[in-house]
Amino acid sequence: MLRIVFLGPPGAGKGTQAAEFAREHHIAHLSTGDLLRAAVSGGTPLGREAEGYMRAGRLVPDDLVLQILEERLRSPEAREGFILDGYPRNLAQAMELERLTPIDRVVWFDLPAEVLIARLGQRRVCPTCQTVYNLATHPPKVTGRCDEDGTELVQRSDDLPDAIETRLKVYTAQTEPLLSYYRDKGVLRPIDAGGTPAEVAQRLRAALV
Ligand code: AP5
Repeated sequence: MLRIVFLGPPGAGKGTQAAEFAREHHIAHLSTGDLLRAAVSGGTPLGREAEGYMRAGRLVPDDLVLQILEERLRSPEAREGFILDGYPRNLAQAMELERLTPIDRVVWFDLPAEVLIARLGQRRVCPTCQTVYNLATHPPKVTGRCDEDGTELVQRSDDLPDAIETRLKVYTAQTEPLLSYYRDKGVLRPIDAGGTPAEVAQRLRAALV
């Protein structure tokens, strides 16, 4: 049973690594960002409430995120373990999580702001299957089209410069304090998130043994 949290600034590569690690270890990849984006594109009441916060790069209110996450944490897909990608993001969420489940490891993806900004500006995603690309480091085989299903790739609305700036500020103010919270609990494992995805994956495996 592996119960892992991925913590780190926007664009650090949490989603890229979580998808691969979860596949390899047959555990659930629970991304609150993906769950919220699905609610937005599905036009659910929760999605309609969350949309404005997300577009601006601000955190969605804690009670809304919890609603969406709690159900998935209790689902059969998470029975053998999970990676929480993007939750918790503030102290109140960390306390809430503690009420729901023990956590074995918290991996902190560390990367300088200039690299994050470059990665986010070049990110493109498939709106159908959510595959993530990067125009500089991981482009699709056919320009502008998803390798998996041929759908036209899009840029996330929060990957525009103003929203990126807000997301980085929100991360520093609200999420970074969680590092000392988890360090004090003895579960924090920092990794250098620079270099190729394969290099980061290797550091991740070493941090989780
Ligand atoms: P969310 O979707 O969680 O966004 P994020 O945390 O800002 O993280 P990102 O998805 O931007 O980055 P990532 O670290 O996953 O990087 P990726 O692997 O894609 O949240 C979005 C919004 O939802 C929030 O702003 C908020 O509004 C709301 N929300 C979500 N959770 C919430 C919560 N708990 N509470 C309240 N609100 C919440 O990689 C980035 C790019 O770099 C890609 O193009 C990728 O191909 C490329 N790349 C990845 N690794 C490498 C590498 N090693 N080398 C080169 N390029 C790389």
